[in-house]
Amino acid sequence: MAKVTWIGQAAVLVEGEKTKFIIDPYITDNPDIQNGLKPEDIDVDYIFVTHGHWDHLGDTIAIAKRTNATVVATFELIVYLQRHGLENVHPMHIGGAHRFSDDLWVKMTIAHHGSAVMNDEEGTVYTGNPCGFVFEIDGKTIYHAGDTGLFMDMQLIGELNKIDLAILPIGDNFTMGPQDGAKAVEFLKPKAVMPIHYLAWDLIKQDPDEFVKLVGNKAEVKIVKPGENLEI
Ligand code: NI
Ligand code: MN
Repeated sequence: MAKVTWIGQAAVLVEGEKTKFIIDPYITDNPDIQNGLKPEDIDVDYIFVTHGHWDHLGDTIAIAKRTNATVVATFELIVYLQRHGLENVHPMHIGGAHRFSDDLWVKMTIAHHGSAVMNDEEGTVYTGNPCGFVFEIDGKTIYHAGDTGLFMDMQLIGELNKIDLAILPIGDNFTMGPQDGAKAVEFLKPKAVMPIHYLAWDLIKQDPDEFVKLVGNKAEVKIVKPGENLEI
């Protein structure tokens, strides 16, 4: 069994019986966060980062330095993070899988998006391709798509993995919207789906009930508010 908490935007905390990890830990200045959560409150074994955009890389460096959590990302993004002082890192690349422990297996999947780190000090630093992740934790399978448009290979991801929970962006404009998200559910065939990345700014605001209607009986739609969790 695993507890899955939507922190906000694409940040998701997964707590298994033994292992805890966070995906895309954007906490500082995340407009979705209403409960006062701080990066200092995060204590995990692993941090998975889907791409270099600031609303995903977020507080990765600070959390990793404080907790010594292993940071997992594409090779290019890992090299960037090493340059910023992170030592406990694990590079992967698209299509590769790795067993981290008895209870945690992870595969890196494609995503159609960008992946650059952009800040005032360094300008724009390209960090390779963006990605998604398939996790098997305590025997349950979770797919976090990262930021992506709809792609046909989601059928393959659904065929190769019996997904218990798909975590999909539905904010449109930068990623899939509700309609393409519902098509993704058809391709992935997950037991349940949790929409994310649809609240933070007006540009990506979506009505999750619209997504529920579009998904219909294809999967159970779990609408959680930032800070809330569900169990799988
Ligand atoms: Ni992005
Ligand atoms: Mn994003």
